[in-house]
Amino acid sequence: MAKTKSAFFCQNCGAQSPRWIGKCPSCSEWNTYVEEIVNTKPEKKLWSKADGKKNKAAAPQVLSNVSITDDHRMAIPDKELNRVLGGGLVYGSLVLMGGEPGIGKSTLLLQLALKLKNQKVLYVSGEESEQQIKMRADRLQLKNDELYVLTETSLENIFAQLAHLEPSLVIIDSIQTVFTEKIESSPGSVSQIRECAAELLRYAKETSTPVFLVGHITKDGTIAGPKVLEHMVDTVLQFEGDRHHVYRILRAAKNRFGSTAELGIYEMQGAGLQEVANPSAVLIANREESLSGVAIAATMEGIRPLLIETQALVSSAVYGTPQRSSTGFDLRRLSMLLAVLEKRCGFRLGTKDVFLNIAGGIKVEDPAIDLAVICAVLSSSEDMAIPPKYCFAAEVGLSGEIRPVTRVEQRISEAEKMGFEKMIISKYNKKGLDISRFGKIEIKTVSRVEEVFQLLFG
Ligand code: TYD
Ligand code: MG
Repeated sequence: MAKTKSAFFCQNCGAQSPRWIGKCPSCSEWNTYVEEIVNTKPEKKLWSKADGKKNKAAAPQVLSNVSITDDHRMAIPDKELNRVLGGGLVYGSLVLMGGEPGIGKSTLLLQLALKLKNQKVLYVSGEESEQQIKMRADRLQLKNDELYVLTETSLENIFAQLAHLEPSLVIIDSIQTVFTEKIESSPGSVSQIRECAAELLRYAKETSTPVFLVGHITKDGTIAGPKVLEHMVDTVLQFEGDRHHVYRILRAAKNRFGSTAELGIYEMQGAGLQEVANPSAVLIANREESLSGVAIAATMEGIRPLLIETQALVSSAVYGTPQRSSTGFDLRRLSMLLAVLEKRCGFRLGTKDVFLNIAGGIKVEDPAIDLAVICAVLSSSEDMAIPPKYCFAAEVGLSGEIRPVTRVEQRISEAEKMGFEKMIISKYNKKGLDISRFGKIEIKTVSRVEEVFQLLFG
């Protein structure tokens, strides 16, 4: 008889210990160790000999014989998701989608399942009943006669249904609710998640069926469960956005089959998530009058240019310590830019409150937004509006120099397309730039922060 052995696992990071400990040495969280039964019985079958023809994902091939047709990817009827996945869903891939509660993970995946035509899809939910899923589908106003739903949390039962149904796509909502009888700990615990994900991975690879897993996230934004879960899956998608805003952003945090720089933008509407085909148009408000403290930045998200409105408010500090607050932009970077303004342009911002907001609830990491942030702050501080139809794209360095950015042509084209008339970029970006390509837009170059101020407000 095999002995049952138990070990303690950190529920936060998955670290293992033979004894209970109060503080996890690996992730420094307190009180996260829970005892779980470890199966010491040797597995009967660690691998099974799969049919070589059926198992396209795992069969070795001579690399030079691999054809680069796209038939190893399933085209999905969602342009944004398609792009984030790297141009379609790879057969046999395991995709983990994480995001805060209520952000729209279930909606996005159900919508995908409903839109897929002529393909059998199984949507397994451990969180909602069939009726609730039906109500959601009605709300989405979509219908698919080949979509099967199953409310089940036992992995053994799910596999039995999968063997019977043989769907072309499987969605598991969520990995934290499924459990296998092989392990005696409760659903959602580290060893359950790890074991279930490993089994699902094996299923995906052996049958070449793509599987979507929904994952909960912890309060610091990482996917709940062991870190090894993210290593196991092929793609980790993050669905984020402010719940109070309508825009949702889908990013790939890891993608074995594509770039992680891509971004999908959705708008949450009454009838589900709508793809935003032209994000620049919705992110910048079309105003009649010009307001102070607003500047438009031409940023890049992946290979896609995106025009973003940065808004700043600078006012005298009412309380002793001036406040610095920023939404959608790194606060430390804002402090740095303010220090540059103080040192290089002589602005006394030390006694002012500065608030910065990126419109639309979007988070921006592209450093090309720096110049627009500086201009928005200057504009608000002087209470002078930036002349209309101006757009900015440059990074700002510590000594106040305006640094070049990547893919400047694409940014200029996007600004031109959106009707901007003047674009301000770094002097160092001008080298090799064919200005004659751009007809209507006038390109101005600057090399120092002081020049920008001169240029805008004279
Ligand atoms: P949901 O997909 O249940 O989130 P998750 O699975 O990530 O927890 O998202 C539900 C939210 O989306 C809920 O607050 C209501 C909203 N919603 C809409 O605004 N429109 C819709 O058509 C649907 C289905 C949901
Ligand atoms: Mg859900």
